[in-house]
Formats: sequence, C-alpha cells, structure tokens
Amino acid sequence: MTVSTNATGALDLRDSRTGRSFSVPISTEGPEGDTSVRAMDLRQVRQEEGEFGLLTYDPAFMNTASCKSAITYIDGDKGILRYRGYPIEQLAEKATFLEVAYLLRHGELPTQPEYDVWVKDITFHTYVHENIRKFLEGFRYDAHPMSMLCSATAALSSFYPQARDIQDPHQRYISIIRLLAKLPTIAAFAYRHVKGLPFIYPDNELSYSENFLSMVARMSEPKYQANPVFVKALEVLFILHADHEQNCSTSAVRAVGSSHVDPFSAVAAGNAALFGPLHGGANEAVLRMISRIGDKKNIPAFIENVKTGGGERLMGFGHRVYKSYDPRARIVKKLADEVFAQVGMDKDLEIALELERIALEDDYFISRKLYPNVDFYTGLIYRSMAFPTDFFTVLFAVARVAGWAAQWEEMVLDKEQKIARPRQIYVGAGERQYEDRLAEKFPRARKDSIRK
Ligand code: CMC
Repeated sequence: MTVSTNATGALDLRDSRTGRSFSVPISTEGPEGDTSVRAMDLRQVRQEEGEFGLLTYDPAFMNTASCKSAITYIDGDKGILRYRGYPIEQLAEKATFLEVAYLLRHGELPTQPEYDVWVKDITFHTYVHENIRKFLEGFRYDAHPMSMLCSATAALSSFYPQARDIQDPHQRYISIIRLLAKLPTIAAFAYRHVKGLPFIYPDNELSYSENFLSMVARMSEPKYQANPVFVKALEVLFILHADHEQNCSTSAVRAVGSSHVDPFSAVAAGNAALFGPLHGGANEAVLRMISRIGDKKNIPAFIENVKTGGGERLMGFGHRVYKSYDPRARIVKKLADEVFAQVGMDKDLEIALELERIALEDDYFISRKLYPNVDFYTGLIYRSMAFPTDFFTVLFAVARVAGWAAQWEEMVLDKEQKIARPRQIYVGAGERQYEDRLAEKFPRARKDSIRK
C-alpha cells in the first residue's frame, strides 16, 4: 500500500524579530487528506546564521505526528476506527482475532492458505521455555499480573538473542509470532500464580481464545470445554483492543524500538506504559466507581457530584479523540447484552445501564461531548467471565500486542525513522562554578563496605 505525498500549499510566516519571511510547505497525505508541516522546516527560522533555529514545543505530543502509519485510522469527530481501511464494526462482527492480527501485520486480510500458516505458526509457539515458568514462580503470591507480564516479556529477549537481528525479515516474523503466541501463555500463568493454582500448559488443539480460557480456567477436566459465548466475547474484545494508532503504549514501543533493541524489549516497554492507570486501567476504574455507588438510588447524587466538580469523574465516559462517540463502545454494549443474557443480570450492570441512561440525557455530558467509551462495559464483561479486576489490563495487553508488533515492524522498515530523540527547552540554571560543599566525600558506611 502506498500513501501519496504532495505539497498542496504553503504556510507563509514572518518573523517579527528580523522581519524575514519564510515559506513552509503544507503536505496533504493519505486517503483522508491529513495536512501537516514538517517541524524541521521551522529550523530555518533564526535570527542569525549559525543559530539553532525555531523549535516546536508540544508537551504530550498534543499536535505532533511522530510517524506516518498505514495501520490504523481514527476520526474522533465522526467516531470512525478502521484497521488497514476496514471499519472496526465489520471486523468485530466477521473476523477472528488472529485474522485481525494478520491484517495489522501484513496490511491485507489473509487468504485461507495464508491464514492456515499464520494460525499454525502461532499455535506451535504457544509453549514457553520451562525457565520462564520458573521465573514466574519466583514472583510474590500477590504480585500484580501486569508486573509479571511486563517482566516476562522482557525476559523473552534473553531466550531469543537472534531476535536482535531486526533487519532480518525471518527474525522479525518469528519474533512477532512468538509475541502473539506466548503472551497469552505468560498472562495465564501469571493468573494461575496469583490464584495459587497449578499452571496449565497450552492445548494446541484448541483455538486461540479457547486455549487462553483453558490455560486460565481449566481444573481437573481432561479437556477444557469453553463457554462459546465467552469465546466469542473474548475474540471481539481482543479485536477492539488490537490497535489504536499512536497511543501512549504504542508510542513507547516505537520509541524504545527505535534504538534497534529486540522486539521483546520494545514490547515490554509497551506493557509498562499500558500498566499506568491513565492508559490501560480505566475499565478497572469503572468497576470501582460502580461499587462505590452501590445502589441505583445513589446515582442522582453521584451524577450531581460529578457535575459540580466534587472530585469525581464519570469513569468510562469521554475520550481525548472521540468526540461524537467511541465506535468500540457500541460494539461492547451489544456484546454485554449477549454475555449478560447468558450469565444473568447483576446489580452492577443495572447501575451501569442507569448511569448511562441518565448521563446521555444530561446537558452537562451532552454539551461536553461525553459519551461512553470502550471501557464503560468491558470491565463488567470481563468480571462476568470471572476475571479478577487486576487482570483486566493484562487482557488488554494480550490483545494490543498485535498492534504493538505491527507498529514496531512498520517503524523498523520506515526509512524516515531514526532513534527517537525529542528536543527540550532548557529552563534550568545558567552556567555556574563548582563549589565544594562536602567535608567527607566517601561517607563512613561506604568506606567500611569497601574495606570488607
Ligand atoms: N466525567 C465528567 N466530566 C468529564 C469527564 C468525565 N468522564 N471527562 C471529561 N469531563 C469534562 C471535564 O471536566 C471538562 O469539563 P470543563 O470543560 O467544564 O472543564 C471537559 O469534560 C473536557 O475534559 P478534558 O479533561 O479536557 O478532556 P480530555 O480529552 O483531556 O480527557 C479523558 C479525556 C478520557 C481523559 C476524560 O474524558 C476522562 O477522564 N474520562 C474518564 C476516564 C476514562 O474513561 N478513560 C478511558 C478512556 S478510553 C480508553 C482508551 O482508548 O485509551
């Protein structure tokens, strides 16, 4: 797939310090006509020859494109999410998670033979080295499963040193296969460790999602029979979480990967970013909020508190990018109906439905374009499938590895990319002279330990 670039105009600038004028080309690119100027073009704006030139200042990258990508397209105002051009609604309804993972990585949907090879390759790499199992056993009984997943993903790099050869297409391919295959195994082992249950090894006769549920939930039965409603729910939720363009964790994977480290180390950085409550933890926060509300009769007071800025936010509502609706939320709502038809309605779901009904009719939320986001119902679905709250972010990571891997490889192959190295605006002290403030340069404890 090629994305055309053409300069369609120019931004004319005048520097009031020097009176000099500059012209910066405006590029229009891609099928949706995204316009941009190159930040480097602003470096010509300088007062004197030899001066560094004008920097752009953009904390949190609010208005900076860090890459060109052909993977995921989002239009937040229109509520559009597409992977490789395919609307998320169609993929969630018709595709499997591994089909979507193939699409993200290869750019096209697989033919049957291509899909068979992809699924077989992933299936036959689901086992982890026994030392990874021992490594996971070394964690404390109450370790957060995200800490375990993150560390074990980084540890995979020590088992596959050949993955460091990121210029070799075969090494890139097999590393991506290993990431997709082994993260569910590590995630399930982390779950079993925290629960104090024996680890269940992968069953390669099962589908990807069935096998994951088997590794999580199987007890003494010789063959695990997954609930088909849960298998479908997991597939759909994994598809919805598979990629979301340049979010915090994907940017972390790209930035760390830009040093040309192996992909396991880069994806471990993605896990670390996702672990943060501002990123992967919102579905957990929705459940905590609902249990604090406790009863439908407390909802009006809760909403009033949110509206008057009483320190609460309606978790699972609002999004930085989506300002009409989050297309994933509609799909999740429908899925929640199917799952709850199977497991039965509970008090928390009733609270969630009522919260949503009231908020969608309230001018505070309407005027601020606050709609339910993907996380409003995902936590409730995961909990109804008996996943503990701590585990929700792990489920997110197992799905997002498909996007991280595709984005990592796109970055490696992008000739324009270099090691990520933002500039800064220095606001610290000017030059000053060293003054010796210490009477003792090597304090006692240190000297003692050196003598030993
Ligand atoms: N409840 C109540 N008021 C809200 C909420 C909310 N959930 N979200 C935003 N607002 C208000 C906010 O107080 C502000 O009001 P005012 O203009 O009067 O000051 C206005 O809406 C704009 O808010 P903002 O903080 O400037 O919006 P943002 O784009 O920076 O924040 C957000 C986006 C997702 C962080 C925020 O909406 C939020 O905190 N939502 C709750 C947490 C949540 O559900 N996060 C999951 C996001 S989806 C997962 C993903 O894709 O990563």
